[in-house]
Amino acid sequence: MKTLLIWFVLMNLDTGHSTETHDQVLSITSKTQEQVDVLKNISTQHETVLWQPDSPQYIREESHVHLFVPANSSKTVKDLLQKHSIAYVILLDNTKELIEMQTRNVSTDPRSSSSYYQRYHSLEEIYYWINWTAQNNPSTVKVILIGSSYEKRPLYALKLTLNNRPNKTALWIDCGIHAREWIAPAFCLWFVQHSLSFYGRNKDITNILDNMDVYVLPVMNPDGYKYTWTTDRMWRKNRSISKGSSCIGVDLNRNFDANWCTMGASHEPCSQIYCGAFPESEPESQAVADFLRSHKDSVQLYLTIHSYSQMLLFPYSCTLDEVENHQDLLEMAQEAAQNIKRHYGNNYKYGAGAKTIYLAPGGSDDWVYNLGIKYSFTFELQDRGEYGFLLPPSHISKACKEAVTAVKAIALKVIEKT
Ligand code: ARG
Ligand code: ZN
Repeated sequence: MKTLLIWFVLMNLDTGHSTETHDQVLSITSKTQEQVDVLKNISTQHETVLWQPDSPQYIREESHVHLFVPANSSKTVKDLLQKHSIAYVILLDNTKELIEMQTRNVSTDPRSSSSYYQRYHSLEEIYYWINWTAQNNPSTVKVILIGSSYEKRPLYALKLTLNNRPNKTALWIDCGIHAREWIAPAFCLWFVQHSLSFYGRNKDITNILDNMDVYVLPVMNPDGYKYTWTTDRMWRKNRSISKGSSCIGVDLNRNFDANWCTMGASHEPCSQIYCGAFPESEPESQAVADFLRSHKDSVQLYLTIHSYSQMLLFPYSCTLDEVENHQDLLEMAQEAAQNIKRHYGNNYKYGAGAKTIYLAPGGSDDWVYNLGIKYSFTFELQDRGEYGFLLPPSHISKACKEAVTAVKAIALKVIEKT
């Protein structure tokens, strides 16, 4: 009798799971303006998270919208889509398992093993890794505290100096400005490891590090990153509290002083692209801006790492105007994209941000450009929506190798030109 009862309970649990109650990601395409409006409405009025584009204001006719729909709003959302004859396909049906896969740490690989760099790591682990890396490379790696986050977590950058030539220029790379883009911090770790182990063994890496110091900020938005591990995997912004609103967070990539909060950003604290109360209102963006202001004579190349969509972007994003060295930047991005294609077979789009995706003012790349750092790029790493932000750990290696290829192509050109 007892076994029968247990069996009955398990059966019920099981059927409970197999009904249509998964969190899903839908790819939705609106054909008409009316459908666009319905979709904008769905993404703002119902409990969903927009994956692509970053904000409903960017939704257009024929654009492929990726929308995360939690189980409890699944029926309502699908009914609305059906009612307005809006076509959709299910992109992801197993988000729970994918999240589990991304956070599972079965083995405790040593930080020196290559498998360590093929997993995602918690914020605490990344802090340990920063220290460990500096301790193990005392003559070449320094930790620099550039500021602290809204919730007072330290912002540590690593400085790699592999060669003591005088008058070296520098390369800056930041990762993880947007919390849910986990492949970005993974890339920063990968890049440091790759640089340290291939210096003196790989011609390009050696050439780059002989000519440039490298600053790497692995997690620009530690509060947001932490929050994606503990509470909400889909979180994008930082975690600052706004006066007069219960909504939390500023989009740090709308908070820089480059046509701040014009079209493509929002004054509304509840928006995913909220620009903040004023330019550099956030301690994270201010720390990066302060550091770059005081190092603008040495830093010649600025890279900021995001995901997803596979693009190599350069200024401007805050206006449709072309920058003065547009042709240079275009050629560099083109060569980088061609190298990725040749070595790894993947397609990366490239071009000025505003023309390639959308107007998005207040970004770090544009601000840095206007500061005088004329080689400034935003990388959008893998993938193109197959897994989106939930890129499985097994894809980290290829995503990072592609990005290293692009960094090399661009850095070598900068060295040639300066
Ligand atoms: N998806 C990125 C964002 O919306 C693109 C960044 C491109 N650069 C920029 N300044 N908006 O932040
Ligand atoms: Zn991003």
